[in-house]
Amino acid sequence: MTRGMRLAGKGWRRRWAAAILLCATRAVAGEGAADGSSAAQLRQAVRADYVLQCAGCHRVDGRGSSRHGIPDFRDSVGAFARLPAGREYLIRVPGAAQSQLDNAELAAVLNWVLEEFSPAQLPADFRPYTEQEVEAARPRRYEDVVPVRHGLAKALSDQGFNLADYSYGSDRKP
Ligand code: HEC
Repeated sequence: MTRGMRLAGKGWRRRWAAAILLCATRAVAGEGAADGSSAAQLRQAVRADYVLQCAGCHRVDGRGSSRHGIPDFRDSVGAFARLPAGREYLIRVPGAAQSQLDNAELAAVLNWVLEEFSPAQLPADFRPYTEQEVEAARPRRYEDVVPVRHGLAKALSDQGFNLADYSYGSDRKP
């Protein structure tokens, strides 16, 4: 088996797992294949990527785990999109940047997260992430994400947006 075949095999298995999960989710939701629009189907596929790649830490409902340093997305994460550095942070944060999702998939999952968990905090002129934007920012890893997150929280609170708690109880909390 060539390396290319093995990689293709891996991608195939991941897509297949996502498809199985998607069917299961649809079955639970009582949706037949016939009545979902293609936009709704795409949204379900993106949600399946979130469930497989992100929800282990962020939980299916986005609440995270403050005790473990995983911030709550709900009514919070959208505010980052108000600052250029915050918009970029959502791509470069390790859990997103280092996930197995490709750039187009990550763009779609970030857009889904923002609209699902924090639409009220998004700026009125919010432009959805694109594959190109993710591709440009993603390789620039942070050396240390903690001060970046605290700096953005301070800048946003000066604008009246209070982010979900982060690094609760840690000695790295400012
Ligand atoms: C292993 C656990 C883990 C996984 C898996 C994970 N994350 Fe995270 N995520 C974190 C932690 C911890 C933070 C807080 C920043 C930090 O310390 O890295 C975070 C922060 C974030 C933030 C910024 C939220 C904020 O309020 O600062 C976004 C957006 C995000 N993650 C997206 C994702 C996406 C999208 C995925 C799936 C592709 C994902 N994460 C997978 C642990 C994870």
